[in-house]
Amino acid sequence: MKDLLSMNQLTNEMIYDLLDKTHRMKKGEFPSLKGTFAANLFLEPSTRTKQSFYVAEKRLQMEVLDIEAEQSSILKGETLYDSVRTLEALGADVLTIRQSERGALKEIASRTKASIINAGDGTGEHPTQSLLDLYTIYEEFGTFENIIVTIAGDIKHSRVARSNAYALEQLGATVQFSAPDAWREKDGTYVTMQEAVETSDVVMLLRIQKERHQNQTPMDSYLETYGLTKQRASLMKPGAIIMHPAPVNRGVEIDSDLVECSRSRIFEQMNNGVYMRMAIIQTLMEGKHYENHKRIQMERGLCATV
Ligand code: NCD
Repeated sequence: MKDLLSMNQLTNEMIYDLLDKTHRMKKGEFPSLKGTFAANLFLEPSTRTKQSFYVAEKRLQMEVLDIEAEQSSILKGETLYDSVRTLEALGADVLTIRQSERGALKEIASRTKASIINAGDGTGEHPTQSLLDLYTIYEEFGTFENIIVTIAGDIKHSRVARSNAYALEQLGATVQFSAPDAWREKDGTYVTMQEAVETSDVVMLLRIQKERHQNQTPMDSYLETYGLTKQRASLMKPGAIIMHPAPVNRGVEIDSDLVECSRSRIFEQMNNGVYMRMAIIQTLMEGKHYENHKRIQMERGLCATV
């Protein structure tokens, strides 16, 4: 594997391999990628994901170049493709990119030798968040089989929901959704929040993606009608957990007191994110060495016949 762009490129075997690598990273078994170079290009706002990649790359002893939207020549009209080729020319082995156009990285990745990681493409996908969420669930329950996950909130605009729904189903979990009508997707089983808390092993809340809405978002009674209140949380099954990719709007999708309650895994998700991103980068670098090896062998073969 050269790039990580979407969850649908990963088989269950590849996901379990990443979970296993993450586990080893978390135990402190880090490989060294000294001499390799990571560039992070974030053209949409990010705190957690960007910092998590930075920490992961530093722990792997990579050289790191962080580029903010304001410093990027994209503001001068350069295409994303040219920015990527420039960073590759400077020696980047891995490029982590967050940008707003859904699906835009596929074509770019096919035209560069550097590994590309999708750190969120508009309303498209967020595979590294999904993988750290999968790790958090697996760490908790040791399986995905018969685990019921409710993804609740702004499903329609959430790349986290898209990546997670796909991967969780592929791994054998049961996924259901809870959302106001306006934020539903066509497919999927929808339940009320009351039903969600009574049936789920994982209640995965989403931030309301106001920046992606055309009309003003009514937030006043959101918590009482659709969010996780303390009263609802008290009905959760024994052992059930609360997740949220953050940033959290305290008092909107979740009661502020629940963010750090014993069921919450919100900060553990962030902690796991560093190790999962280390595992992803290690896997891509192995894949790249293999691709390069194949290419060199092929070139040698071709040279021999000339
Ligand atoms: C998510 C994102 O950017 O899609 N955040 C994150 O990466 N931790 C979710 C969100 O912004 O709501």
